[in-house]
Amino acid sequence: MKRQHEQRWAVTSSFSETLRNATWADHESAESDGYLSALMAGRLTEHDYGEMVAQHYFAYTALDGVSRELAGHPVAGRFVFPELYREQALERDLATIYGPGWRERITPSKATRTLVARIHQVADWPGGYVAHHYTRYLGDLSGGQFIRMELQKIYGYAKGGGVDFYIFDDLGSLPRFKTEYRSRLDALGQDLDDREQQRMIAEVRLAYQLNTEVLSDLRHLVKTAA
Ligand code: HEM
Repeated sequence: MKRQHEQRWAVTSSFSETLRNATWADHESAESDGYLSALMAGRLTEHDYGEMVAQHYFAYTALDGVSRELAGHPVAGRFVFPELYREQALERDLATIYGPGWRERITPSKATRTLVARIHQVADWPGGYVAHHYTRYLGDLSGGQFIRMELQKIYGYAKGGGVDFYIFDDLGSLPRFKTEYRSRLDALGQDLDDREQQRMIAEVRLAYQLNTEVLSDLRHLVKTAA
């Protein structure tokens, strides 16, 4: 593990591929988190699922807010897509899960506050902003689609609230959008020198770590079999 942290990544292929390869081990840690595994196995109550949705709400309020601010930025602005904004979808999901009083019952965990602080901290560094943007949105458009199907089976949600967070109707074809997104990453990579590329890779790794800590914080909801 230590070796991996010290590793420098040779940017031989496209930058989007390098980014993916350099951070895939971090993806594995996020994906195999105990809370997510229990959620996918149908072992959590609807309110337990709502705890993750609530944490998403705080993180995406920050990410979407920063995106709005950066919409006109010559570099970061290339990654701003209003169709990706998740705040309203998350509000519908929370209202479905907890009812109209949802706002009173949600609070950000310590891990979420750390993630949100980092998103704000790197907002004036385009590579940092894109690192957090990529880690969340490209994940939601990829594994997130699998998660949505599982959640629909488990809790019986229909469109309109419950899993709207994972529904990106305004984007059109998701594979086509992801291809376009990766070509924007490749173009960004061409504008960055080696040091800046490595710095961005490190920020994606940190983004994975901070997001995984948000999930780890929810592990107390997983009841071990008696
Ligand atoms: C049950 C949990 C998860 C599953 C099953 C899963 C699965 C996947 C799969 C199959 C892909 C590849 C899709 C493709 O090639 O188009 C992918 C991509 C991705 N996932 Fe996940 N994922 C999970 C959780 C997460 C989490 C928690 C995060 C972030 C915190 C995340 C971030 C990403 C990102 C950024 C990509 C895009 C990588 C790239 O192609 O550059 N995933 N995921």
